[in-house]
Amino acid sequence: MKTPATTQSHTRSQQLLERAQKSLVEGVNSPSRGAAVYPGGPIFLERGQGSHVWDADGNEYVDFMMSFGALIHGHAHPQLVSVVSEAMAAGSHFAAATSAEVEAAECFRRMVPSAEAVRFTNTGSEATMLALRLARAHTGRNKFLKFEGHYHGWYDPYLLNAHSHRPEELGPPENPSRIPDSEGIPPATFDDVVLAPWNDVAALERVMQQHGRALAAVISEPIMANMGCIPPREGYLQRLRELTREYGALLIFDEVVTGFRYAPSGCQEYYGVKPDLSTFGKALGAGFPVGAVAGPKAILDRMRWGTNMVLHYGTFNGHRLTMKVIAANLDLLSAEGAYGKLHATGDAAIAGLRDVFRRCKVNAIVQGFGPMFQIYFTERDTIHDYRDYCSYVDTARYSRFVHRLLEHGIYMTPSNGLHWIISTAHTESDVEKLIAAADQACAELV
Ligand SMILES: Cc1ncc(COP(=O)(O)O)c(C=O)c1O
Repeated sequence: MKTPATTQSHTRSQQLLERAQKSLVEGVNSPSRGAAVYPGGPIFLERGQGSHVWDADGNEYVDFMMSFGALIHGHAHPQLVSVVSEAMAAGSHFAAATSAEVEAAECFRRMVPSAEAVRFTNTGSEATMLALRLARAHTGRNKFLKFEGHYHGWYDPYLLNAHSHRPEELGPPENPSRIPDSEGIPPATFDDVVLAPWNDVAALERVMQQHGRALAAVISEPIMANMGCIPPREGYLQRLRELTREYGALLIFDEVVTGFRYAPSGCQEYYGVKPDLSTFGKALGAGFPVGAVAGPKAILDRMRWGTNMVLHYGTFNGHRLTMKVIAANLDLLSAEGAYGKLHATGDAAIAGLRDVFRRCKVNAIVQGFGPMFQIYFTERDTIHDYRDYCSYVDTARYSRFVHRLLEHGIYMTPSNGLHWIISTAHTESDVEKLIAAADQACAELV
């Protein structure tokens, strides 16, 4: 199957960019949508339905970015549209107790067995921020361990080595260079952060021996999702669980990306490792802004009002529309076959892409499985960690490849650090379009 010849016009997107640049920094609201990723200017999207989106010039794409993973049921799912429209007619939000948040919490707990209690936030960043505060209060310790290349939102202490860098800047793995991701953070913020390479049991044992007793928590993405898609080595998460328990540090799984995607409760279920706290976001809200912290009552109850409480306020916490969407979303995900379909569609896309690269003799691998994966242009047969990603992945080639795909009607971010997302709305025909477009993009790749 050949995709149509490139006939896209982007006149309207260009006009919107000129206007946007007068009011918005770089014309966007997040650097992940701006010039760093789209040197020729972003494509302005206007409409989405199911697995497809349309831009301001009327070009149609199959969407595999899915709002950075938020759209687990694709765009404008009819049930979610009707839930939101109905709820909106009765008032958007009261910042008061509602039956909607009770229902959402009950649905959540049915899907996430580690959640004796849950607290809803507005974003994944807020959830990871709160999880750390809870862990510090619960253990009476200040330090925490984060891994190189893991991103946990834009809260100050997490912004160490969350971006990729040139290999010569990384320092030795046993004493990594500490590279802040942002200006404006007082250096002392990082005094309590222990930094270690991920997916390396020996490094973990070493760092836990040295710092374990001082750590309030170890926070980890269970699949590394912000250097593409890097699954844990066999037994790694289990060893992480054992060591955190041994040293009395809480294990926080940041399941903002993986939660409700790989299995109902995410990677903790898929890999059979129960964290102390977990954070969720993205797919939980099916397109609405939300985050959540889940765990034992003994820890979450520290937010109860009184002396020594852990403070967590928020006008929009438990937003009524979002809570309604969560209940309906989790209902849809509980339907027989939902996860089977997510995995089967993703595996078909992965197999098809691997076949394209083999046929076209392009040195590229597809890493991940089922509902989330990433393509790496590399000579290696696996990317195991942040250092592999920084050293062996040709991210510029990936960006060129994705720009070719965009012209053939496949929507994806050209940033190699993100990942391809499958929703319940994707079909076999979408996968066929992807494979045909990838074939052509490979032929055009220089
Ligand atoms: C693993 C992880 N944690 C936390 C966050 C922050 O979530 P949000 O963008 O909703 O603040 C992200 C966002 O991409 C993420 O990938």
